[in-house]
Parts: sequence; C-alpha cells; structure tokens
Amino acid sequence: SAGEALANFEIEQLEKVSIQENIFRDRFPEDFIFGCSTSAYQIEGGVHEGGRGPCSWDTECSIPGRILNGSTGDIACDSYNKYQEDVDLIDEVGFDAYRFSIAWTRIFPDGVGDQPNQEGLAYYNRVIDALLIKGVKPVITLYHFDLPQVLLDKYGGWSSAEIIPAFSAYAEACFVAFGDRVKNWITINEPTIDLALNSGYAGTLGEAAKVNTPERRYLQGHHMLLAHATAAKIYRQKYQGLDGKIGIALDIQGYEPLTDAPEDIEAANTAMAFRGGWFMDPLTFGQYPEVIRKTWGEALPSFTEEESKLVKGSIDFLGLNFYTGLYVSGKPVFGFSNTPAFPVTLPSNIYIGDFRDQVPIGGLSGAGLRIHPKSLENVLLMLKTKYGNPLTYITENGYSEVRNPELSLEESLQDHVRIHYIREHLRAVLSALKGGVNVRGFFVWSLMDNFEWFWGYQYQFGLHYVDFQDNQRRYPKASALWFKDLLHSDRSRV
Ligand code: NOJ
Repeated sequence: SAGEALANFEIEQLEKVSIQENIFRDRFPEDFIFGCSTSAYQIEGGVHEGGRGPCSWDTECSIPGRILNGSTGDIACDSYNKYQEDVDLIDEVGFDAYRFSIAWTRIFPDGVGDQPNQEGLAYYNRVIDALLIKGVKPVITLYHFDLPQVLLDKYGGWSSAEIIPAFSAYAEACFVAFGDRVKNWITINEPTIDLALNSGYAGTLGEAAKVNTPERRYLQGHHMLLAHATAAKIYRQKYQGLDGKIGIALDIQGYEPLTDAPEDIEAANTAMAFRGGWFMDPLTFGQYPEVIRKTWGEALPSFTEEESKLVKGSIDFLGLNFYTGLYVSGKPVFGFSNTPAFPVTLPSNIYIGDFRDQVPIGGLSGAGLRIHPKSLENVLLMLKTKYGNPLTYITENGYSEVRNPELSLEESLQDHVRIHYIREHLRAVLSALKGGVNVRGFFVWSLMDNFEWFWGYQYQFGLHYVDFQDNQRRYPKASALWFKDLLHSDRSRV
C-alpha cells in the first residue's frame, strides 16, 4: 500500500543517513555565513513587560480554540529574560550570525507614535551588544507576523495603505537606534504565508482563508511591497553607509513538474509564479507576473510608474525560507489538489500533490512537510536564471519533530533525522554553488524549540530542546553538536 511504501521509504532515508559522507565547512565560499533564526513572538514571552503593546498574536492566543492545546506565547522561551543564555548557545555552536526579530509593539506599543519606547530599545540593545561581544553578527527582521493590535483594529492591518507610513516610521526608529551596529536588515518575513494564514486579517487558518478573499490578499501584499520598499528607500538614503544591506525574506517552496510533459512543466512554472513570483517579480522587474494578472485581472492591484520604480531593485539581498517541495501537474491526478492552503487560489489547471507512481516525493517531517532537498537546489537555480542571480541568504531551513512527552530527555535530544535534513539541504546548497548561484548564507530554523503559531508547542524545530515544564531550560540536541562540528571542521580533518 501507499502507506507501506512511505514507511519503507522513510526507513531507507534514515539508513542513508549513516552511510552518506559528511560535509565540511571549507567546501563553502569563505564569505559564506552560517547562522540560526528565531522570531520575537515565538521566543520572547514577557508580553506585559517593558511597556510592550498587544499584537495580533496575543489576540489570536487569547481566543479559546484557536491554538492547539490553548498554548500561547506569553512565556514561550522567556528570551525576554534569558537572551544571554540564547547568545551563549549561539556562540557555543559557533554560528557567525543570529537572525531574530523585533517586536514592533516593544518599540511602538500602539504601532505608531512620536517617541519610541525606551525600554523596548534597551532590550534589543542588550541583545545586540551581547551578540557583538561574542563576535556574532545580528540580522534583524522588522516584521515577523506580530502586527500591532491597534493597527489591526484601526485599519485592518495590511488592508489599508495607512500601514505603509506606520511601518516605515517603525523601521526608521530601528535604523536610528540600532543601525550603527546592525548591518543586515529584513523588512518582512514570509509575506505570502502571513497573508494566507495570519495577521493580514486577525483570524485563524480556517477563518483567514474564508475572510481573506484573493482580492484582499493581493491588496495586502501590495501594501507589504510598498511598505518594504519605502523602508528600504529610507534605509538606503539615510542609514545604509558602506556596509549596510536590506532585504526581505520570502517563503518559496519547490514545485516539481510531475512528468516532463510540457503541460506539467508549465503548471509548475505557474505555481511558482503565484508563490515566489508574486513578490520576486515586482522586486526584480517592478511588475506582477503576467499569469497572476491574467488570472485575477482587476483584483490584482497595479503599481503606478513611481511605485513600480520604488519597488523594483529594492532588495540588496533575498532571504529565502525553504522547507519543502511538491509535485505539480497540469491535469487532474488522483490525490492532487487544486486548492492547497496557500498561496492564494491557483488557476484551475494546476494540481499539487506529493506522490508519483505511489512513491512520495520525500519523507515527512513532524509538521507534515515533505522533505525534498533537491527542490532547494532547483529554487536557487530558478532565482539565478529568472531573477538575475540575486545575492541570497537562506534565512530559514529546518526540520520539526512532534513533541512527545513520553520520551525521556535523553531520547528527545537524539534528533538524527534533523541532522540528515540539514546536511542534505546543505549539500543542495553546495550543488547550487557549483551551478553558479549567488547564495552566501544559511540560517537554520531554529536555535531552539519555540512557539509554532497555530500548532503551539507541538512541532519543534530547535537545535536545542527547551523544557517548557522546567523554567524553559535549554539543552543541546545531537544536531547542535553536529552543527558545532561542521562549523569547526576543515579539510585537514577529512
Ligand atoms: C516559517 C516562519 O517564518 C517561522 O515563524 C516558522 O516557525 C517556521 N517557518 C517553521 O514553520
């Protein structure tokens, strides 16, 4: 049966883990950066501390039934208090960089204001300085799904153009406060996921999908592009200096044609245009992909000439968040769907699924994502050929297991599938580098187990285990030790 085939497939994958050769740091270019990622709501806690204002996710978590097991980010990993421990873990593994996000409502509790909140600035100054003391580069995301609740109430969040000056004023306050020490900025994290699932309109997976019509999401996405580009312009004009860089982090998964029939290849390209192209085309060419325009017509906003110029070329680097790949067919296939949860509704001749001849594209991660490292190479090559080979950092890649309270602590630390996952994705990066792709960094998601949005603490992506029952104590998993070895490896050790 298909189920058995899958189980066998996964066992084979695991067997391969032990026999595949290891990889070494010096196979990567000298300026290649290794790091790890987190985000504010997922790790900080301290939601009432330091004058922080309420955000969309505080609201989300306060509504019964919204989050698995009624979990919240009220305490999360308590990084608001334990940030020094986080920095020590990062240093211990030997990462060059740490990507974290700023909670907008720690800086402006109401989303906007004349003066930034000093306590909020002080917290991030402590984090940044602690990193710099260890020689770790801070990479800051300005918006990672946690929208100020006041802006949601007032304007419907990204639905209104009012968000553009609000976001750019918040961004500028951060450039002013931290720009002397922080040289890498990401304006917005995973816009298409945010719009499909979360705070584009405060609602849940199900609800957001119902309330957020495609028209509305395209409008919100439009405002995100303009907000990003306005912030980038301010940064470039006033704060960039010689060594600053600003970019955006896009979630782009692999879309593999089911067969090499032209209709499948075209369907895969179309699916990619709807996912990556929605943002990459405007950022590179100043216009939305033709196929989205053809499908949605007037429902897709248009850029004025001035806006088009503003958005085009507004990234110094692309942040790529990559987790999975799926098959795409141009005609109906048993088990394939025309209505995957995201991105937005696809044209009717696109079908997405995970099996070919009853064999899955890859094993399943805990969160139910198919593991297909080859898609990472393919996405990177696509960025090269289609978008002029932008400087790219992989700003997220990682594996989740399902938290299992039955396991002992020791057992929970044996995350060998995660090692396999990361290693095979790094191998895909090496192949892409051989193919001339301009990729210069890899950030694993995540430093530690944390709050995984609607799924609470069920899916855990950490290199470090967090004991949420015991004062959020952190323990390195096998993958953290493996990563440490990788970062300290060189060819002389082969
Ligand atoms: C995407 C998001 O940026 C991050 O917040 C999330 O936890 C990971 N991927 C894993 O799903």
